Amino acid sequence: MKRPNLLFFLAAIFLANTVSAQQKKAVSAADQMMNTFITNLMSQMTPDEKIGQLNLPAVGFDVTGPVLSEGVDEKIEKGLVGGVFNTFTPQAVEKLQKLVMTKSRLKIPLLFGYDVIHGHKTIFPIPLGLSTSWDLDLIEKSARIAAREASADGLNWTFSPMVDIARDARWGRISEGSGEDPYLGGLIGVAMVKGYQTNSLSNKDAILACIKHFALYGAAEAGRDYNTTDMSLIKMYNEYLPPYKAAVDAGAASVMASFNDINGTPATANRWLLTDLLRKQWGFNGFVVSDYTGINELVPHGLGDLKTVSAKALTAGTDMDMVGEGFLTTLKQSLQEKAITISTIDLACRRMLEAKYKLGLFADPYKYVNEERAKTEILSQQNRFDAKNIAEASMVLLKNDNQLLPLKKNAKIALIGPLADDKRNMIGNWSAAGDWKKAIGVMEGLKKAAPDLDIIYAKGANLVDDPAILKQINANGADIVADEKSADKLISDAVSAANKAEIAVVVLGESALMGGEATSRTNLDLLPNQKALLKALTATGKPIVLVLMNSRPLTLEWEDSNVPAILETWFGGTEAGNAIADILVGNYNPSGKLTTTFPRSVGQIPIYYNHKNTGRPYDGVSNEKYKSRYIDSSNDPLYPFGYGLSYTTFQYSPVQLNKVNLKSGQTIQASVDIQNTGNFDGQEVVQLYIQDIYGSITRPVKELKGFQKISLKKGETKHVTFTIDENMLKFYNSALKFAAEPGDFNLFIGGNSRDVSTVKFSLLK
Ligand code: BGC
Repeated sequence: MKRPNLLFFLAAIFLANTVSAQQKKAVSAADQMMNTFITNLMSQMTPDEKIGQLNLPAVGFDVTGPVLSEGVDEKIEKGLVGGVFNTFTPQAVEKLQKLVMTKSRLKIPLLFGYDVIHGHKTIFPIPLGLSTSWDLDLIEKSARIAAREASADGLNWTFSPMVDIARDARWGRISEGSGEDPYLGGLIGVAMVKGYQTNSLSNKDAILACIKHFALYGAAEAGRDYNTTDMSLIKMYNEYLPPYKAAVDAGAASVMASFNDINGTPATANRWLLTDLLRKQWGFNGFVVSDYTGINELVPHGLGDLKTVSAKALTAGTDMDMVGEGFLTTLKQSLQEKAITISTIDLACRRMLEAKYKLGLFADPYKYVNEERAKTEILSQQNRFDAKNIAEASMVLLKNDNQLLPLKKNAKIALIGPLADDKRNMIGNWSAAGDWKKAIGVMEGLKKAAPDLDIIYAKGANLVDDPAILKQINANGADIVADEKSADKLISDAVSAANKAEIAVVVLGESALMGGEATSRTNLDLLPNQKALLKALTATGKPIVLVLMNSRPLTLEWEDSNVPAILETWFGGTEAGNAIADILVGNYNPSGKLTTTFPRSVGQIPIYYNHKNTGRPYDGVSNEKYKSRYIDSSNDPLYPFGYGLSYTTFQYSPVQLNKVNLKSGQTIQASVDIQNTGNFDGQEVVQLYIQDIYGSITRPVKELKGFQKISLKKGETKHVTFTIDENMLKFYNSALKFAAEPGDFNLFIGGNSRDVSTVKFSLLK
């Protein structure tokens, strides 16, 4: 094939990635160059080669190098592969890229995709933990470091960010997203897209982001993974779609269709979703990839045989087929039978080629093959340092009676629990390329942070001894081996350790593999053997600090009533142990706030702060029967959205407004004074919520509309101001029009969604 020269590509890529309004003319010139190039290339492609671009096989990886699944090398040579997934390292990527560049007819470079979810090799906290930092700069930085490492390791495409709103802690994948709030979730999605893609995909360390799972995957019925969702459009538009849209608006280059059924049509075959909404309404111009065998799964969903569903998926707007090869094996026949047209295939093929073009792969297919970068940029000291800072910011202090924490640096402590001296679990689920052996556990972290601590260790319990759970997670590599000691002996050893110490630090929770994909749970208590340990330890009368590691909100009513201090650490990543230790001994003052409501019991689920009122709201006090309430539980969660303590205390003044009437085009300033009234310097996430009191449709009791994470020295007061404008009051009405309605609003400011001070203002006609 005749190819334009390198200078052409460099100019074109530069232009194609330059998107500001002033440069509109240049952009269209760039688009023209790109289009001309791709049109020329496509004119030489056979239908098979075009369909090949839509094929994403997985090419596994073992310790010594890439393992080609059967026939993939041959398919690459024939031009029947658009990208590969699961291959990284410069050597492995070079090998496959060389195959396509030397053996295939048209030499179209491959994409290399991978699940770089919360870090590549330097692992950051699980995404739910990242979100509880409420620190967009740090979150963007985590994605930037992940992209730098991934691109140094041969990758050019990550299957992240996951921006699915989740209100159901039974769903194991709640750990992979940013919680229950659409506004915060959207901002985090944007930060991650920026971190991955930078300001130009032509940069050497930029990789394609992939917004997933489009859409509503987090609303799976009963919290069971892959399950059906059925939802009104009003709820979708106002509560579930905003984060996807925000990430699309931020320029994410790809979108992954979700596994689930949406109102009768699974996402992968849902033309309304993938074409009308995503492309026509939102203007998305990247490509859509199915989820893993998502096209094949349309068969058990009940939409037809593989040939039928592959045609449906393509026509709906799925451009690339992850692993299943439904496209590769059936589209040609569907074309011959006129069930699809060549222009539909062309459209998908063009989108794939555009992504490669924008990355600069036509100019340099080996752009991501650089052993020197791999050696110096992966798991560097600086990356680990940043990972520790991010992990610290993510941890949430749930309880701290009588200022039990921080520990005295020379205290005599009993360090107890199956996760107290563990590395295996620190990096959490979906840490695909992460090496847990490089992680720091709590014991190691404590010894470093406070060498004078006198530590007596006891394991206390197996991490998991429930046979059903063990069977599932060990089959997937959890490596849990029952201790030689009996459960009773483990507990009695732990009790005697506690009795010898001033204080017991007890590290409990889930196995990392109890979170993530296909890990739904119906019971969110601590596992019974761990709970038995905790009960035995509380019976000693020694003060107890409970350090939790888990992938989801747990039900902790007993713990909250019986344990004086609780620190939620999620799975903190490579530097988890150092971060936890710094918090325990007071080198870092916790500043994280929950982004998911913690229920009292599974029976309260779904439970989320931004719910609607009923016609019979319960005040939480009276004993009236005909109210919206339970007879066996309070309605309130255990810990509300936005909640998290600090070693210091913050005093909020009442909210001040500079005026109470808002006219279209104007703004109101809402402000509070916040004073650090405790004995430590600290950080506080100041949160702004608004309620539209009367609307044309019912509106949530409260919605997050802004926040600021501020630092306050001991004794210091800061004045924090939020600017309110009409845009913040808009919502999708019953005609799905995004508009604000004149009337009265409640405005709340506080340190969590429950403890707020309230004022009223009005939007005038
Ligand atoms: C998951 C995706 C993931 C993909 C590739 C699927 O099972 O749902 O989140 O990106 O596998 O590993």
